[in-house]
Amino acid sequence: MESLFEAAKSGIMATAGKEEILPEVKSQPLHKARETVGNPFVDNPRMTCREVSVYYGDKKAINNVSIDIARNEVIAMIGPSGCGKSTFLRCLNRMNDTVEGCRVVGDIRLDGMDIHDKSVDVVPLRARVGMVFQKPNPFPKSIFDNVAYGPKIHGLAQNRSELDEIVEGSLKKAGLWEEVQDRLNQPGTGLSGGQQQRLCIARAIAVSPEVILMDEPCSALDPIATAKIEELIAELREHYSIVIVTHSMQQAARVSQRTAYFHLGDLIEVGKTARIFTNPRHQLTEDYITGRFG
Ligand SMILES: Nc1ncnc2c1ncn2[C@@H]1O[C@H](COP(=O)(O)OP(=O)(O)OP(=O)(O)O)[C@@H](O)[C@H]1O
Ligand SMILES: [Mg+2]
Repeated sequence: MESLFEAAKSGIMATAGKEEILPEVKSQPLHKARETVGNPFVDNPRMTCREVSVYYGDKKAINNVSIDIARNEVIAMIGPSGCGKSTFLRCLNRMNDTVEGCRVVGDIRLDGMDIHDKSVDVVPLRARVGMVFQKPNPFPKSIFDNVAYGPKIHGLAQNRSELDEIVEGSLKKAGLWEEVQDRLNQPGTGLSGGQQQRLCIARAIAVSPEVILMDEPCSALDPIATAKIEELIAELREHYSIVIVTHSMQQAARVSQRTAYFHLGDLIEVGKTARIFTNPRHQLTEDYITGRFG
């Protein structure tokens, strides 16, 4: 089992035959129904999602999904293109509010707080549940101001030296300080792609989030920049919950502790990452991870 998981992590899985990597499932029939297989719930969750559905106009893009996000975990969301990974991710900080024609139903809580409650202001919510996008999107401002922007808006610093401290601490946590400490006043857009992505992570961290959502954060990066971000994700788990959407099963296997597999808007299977990649219980999960689908 362990060596199979190692194979998955290193990418051998993509070319290995099904029998070689999935011996355990032969004796039991795989699930085919559309209700979630595995356990999507955890003790003492950071976030809870119950019976969440999302519509674009009349079209249902997410179908009745229930799942928890644990504290200090990296959870990977995988599945074929168009299955609803980004749509679901955007539910977690009400980013779908900004998408025209999009309607979210169901119950989503952050530390027990209903994020759809009338009393909830989305600006502080999006600080607590930050987001890092596929394409690095620094503001057209200096490196310093990119990171200082959030703390300024949210009044997190009483004076300049506190602000300096937050900026330095966030850049350090994002693994970028060494590279930019001498050029904090230069534009963030002048950095390399991988540096820009770490700047965006520093910007998310600067407002002390509890959860960081990442939608394919490495898909625009080269392998070296990708490795740096993956290392960073592993370190960030100490402080935050991280939900990462990825098309790379190797990446999911390397960085996450749990994996959720989506298919056409349904949450098909959730479980420990090692288990999902070596012993999937649903036919659709198996088809996807063995490369027969998507
Ligand atoms: N703004 C929108 N308006 C209408 N339909 C949308 C919108 N955004 C997404 N959809 C539809 O919702 C479904 C899920 O899309 P979503 O972008 O969440 O998938 P995804 O799993 O993130 O795909 P990918 O891996 O390609 O990024 C798709 O059928 C898509 O066409
Ligand atoms: Mg997407």
